Amino acid sequence: MRKPLVAGNWKMNKTSAQAVALAHELLPAIKNFDQVEKVVCPTFLSIPAVANVLKDSPIGVGAQDVYFEASGAHTGEVSPEMVKEFCQYVIIGHSERRARFGDTDEMVNKKVKAALAIGLTVIMCVGETLAENESGKTKEVVDRQMNEGLRGLSAEQMKNVVIAYEPVWAIGTGRAASAEGANAVIKDFIRPPMKAMFGDAVSQSVRVLYGGSVTGANASEFFAQPDIDGALVGGASLKPLDFTAIVQAASSR
Ligand code: PGA
Repeated sequence: MRKPLVAGNWKMNKTSAQAVALAHELLPAIKNFDQVEKVVCPTFLSIPAVANVLKDSPIGVGAQDVYFEASGAHTGEVSPEMVKEFCQYVIIGHSERRARFGDTDEMVNKKVKAALAIGLTVIMCVGETLAENESGKTKEVVDRQMNEGLRGLSAEQMKNVVIAYEPVWAIGTGRAASAEGANAVIKDFIRPPMKAMFGDAVSQSVRVLYGGSVTGANASEFFAQPDIDGALVGGASLKPLDFTAIVQAASSR
């Protein structure tokens, strides 16, 4: 049985004080859904303060990215060890990082390895753009991102990996993928490369989230699908009522 996971990606929103206020609002609202693993991912600057609010609570804290080097002259970057001081999770390979900040499949792979080595749970994002989708390249793109991103990992390490399928055209657009369509991509294009690399048991035990315009109103459609194990939530994760509804939908899966 794969435990559902709902992660909020707060992206570049909220000052530290605002993030603390949001964490205080979310804590009583979502802490009791024991069947669901819950995570929030604030900006690096807000992480220590939010982690302090959520310490000893069942809500995990994640970073939105991490660098692969351990230390040194890498201006502006944050190392796995620095993330690990406050976080249990890290998002790697989000499409916004791939599109705007130059994250390649090779960098994603290095980041995944460095994060796993320090003991973080990785949420690795994959997904095709609108142009790729419309030209029938979804399988090719997702297959490449899976193979390159997870290259060189062991079956054992996959216990600490979660995949998020986020079609780029569905992110922040209000135009979510259909639940059936997202499930088909996960079943046909995301689990098979894991099976080829790590075996059937691993491909069936790794959790795969859907992300892209998930709301409190549509979440249960996604969670009703057999291969969707939760959600990576952007915009709606900033709204306590919406995020709570998503966690609730995951708990009645
Ligand atoms: P969205 O973002 O929920 O605002 O579409 C999802 C994501 O980018 O993780």
